[in-house]
Amino acid sequence: MKIYEKILDIAKRRGIFYPSCEIYGGISGFYDYGTTGTRIKKNVEDIIRKAYLIEEYGNFTCYEIDCPTMSVEDVWTASGHVKNFSDFIVECKECKEPFRADHLVEENLKISCDGMGAEALTGLIKNSNLKCRKCGGGLNDVYNYNLMFRTEIAPGKNKRIGYMRPETAQSTYIAFKRLWEISRKKLPFGILQIGKSYRNEISPRQYIIRLREFAQAEMEFFTDPDDRFEYLNLKDDAAMKIMDKNDKISEISVKEAHNQGIIKNRAIAYFLQKSVNLFVRMGIDGKRLQLRQHKDSERAFYSKDTWDVEFMSALGRIEIVGVADRGNYDLTRHANYSHEPMEIFWNNRRFVPGVIEVAYGIDRPVYCVVESCYVEEKDKKGNERIYFKFPPEISPYISVFPLMAKEGLPEKAGEVIDVLKKANLYAFYDESGSIGRRYARADEIGVSYAITIDYETLKDNTVTVRFRDTREQRRVKIEELEKAVK
Ligand code: ATP
Ligand code: GLY
Repeated sequence: MKIYEKILDIAKRRGIFYPSCEIYGGISGFYDYGTTGTRIKKNVEDIIRKAYLIEEYGNFTCYEIDCPTMSVEDVWTASGHVKNFSDFIVECKECKEPFRADHLVEENLKISCDGMGAEALTGLIKNSNLKCRKCGGGLNDVYNYNLMFRTEIAPGKNKRIGYMRPETAQSTYIAFKRLWEISRKKLPFGILQIGKSYRNEISPRQYIIRLREFAQAEMEFFTDPDDRFEYLNLKDDAAMKIMDKNDKISEISVKEAHNQGIIKNRAIAYFLQKSVNLFVRMGIDGKRLQLRQHKDSERAFYSKDTWDVEFMSALGRIEIVGVADRGNYDLTRHANYSHEPMEIFWNNRRFVPGVIEVAYGIDRPVYCVVESCYVEEKDKKGNERIYFKFPPEISPYISVFPLMAKEGLPEKAGEVIDVLKKANLYAFYDESGSIGRRYARADEIGVSYAITIDYETLKDNTVTVRFRDTREQRRVKIEELEKAVK
């Protein structure tokens, strides 16, 4: 079995993630998070939330908002998504199966199609005589396919065309005037939105990597266009693979890449560095991360410069965050279409603010955390142990086990759970099977700490805390448990 197949197997069995709608045959592009995965996903979201709302304090203020996922067509006409938000599709002449054209070419010819248009892709498919992956039939010409889900809002004469948002960002931009007032009319400021987005992907695949309904955490950083961002401190960090838009690869730190003018915009460099650190904090293998600048022909219609953080996974290269200089493109478009001015008065000038956007997916980082933390190891006796070495901040629960399900141990375990509850920690109680089996089950969902209540607990009010990675056990007084665990 390949590593990602093993991961999917555990993910399904242990409630991390599994296909949605299974009893009706499933529908591609939709996944459920189970009882374990939901906690992991919330922890991923919380690391991003804390990193912007709390830890940026002193550099700039960042606020969080939460907007509807559906809005009227005018928004998406103004933003350019009705016209431009599309991928290249190619269909089989025989069985009519649709494929994403650039992916089909990349997989078959082992080349990068970043930045290629419909004609170039059609040419490559014809010249290389590529066939349908399903039935072997010939392929039609490549064309553009809009990725937004279209719907109707309200009945009868009130009916309006609506779209599910393909990015959270637009719902932030259209509220800009109000946000400017609320944020006390000072630049810069950040607005974070964590929520669902929808894209009618041509070929959803690779589990939670390419979904039709997925979560994003997008931070829109509203700035003075003349801001040089000197107040955003670049740390001395480790060298990593950095690829610019001309495919020039450097093995240097982000700070050095900014100093050498490879990542010109200091805010982009800052948010890339911050994102890499966040991903490592989540448990993603930093050695498999790289930065890549979008080519001029590949960049989204709204962007002046875009850089991605990519993870080299067992499933291939995965983009997990995009950092883009959207300038004042979006606010200007909304001003023109809504006839509501978006200009502000700041530093004795009147202007439309610029935006640096940091667009995280949530599902893709969750997958990268799971893949990075998957461990298979054998002990001296040759017994195999499989576990996820999630950092405590990501770990879904703290396990609480009474050694035996009798003689007052379960009741004492209840007291320990009360201590964890008061400390806002998620406890998971298990009394069935041998203690070894229970440890193995906890390891398999990446529980960092397992607390066991034994006969000594009844005498001296201490419990054992077992550390998943080292299997070391330490006795801790119940009164000191919160401090010890935190
Ligand atoms: P790709 O080229 O892989 O389709 P993208 O360039 O369209 O990705 P962005 O538009 O930059 O991605 O979206 C920002 C982030 O949202 C991505 O970094 C990714 O983490 C997440 N994302 C985008 N599309 C999907 C999807 N279909 N399923 C899950 N996450 C997604
Ligand atoms: N907001 C950037 C994107 O989702 O494409």
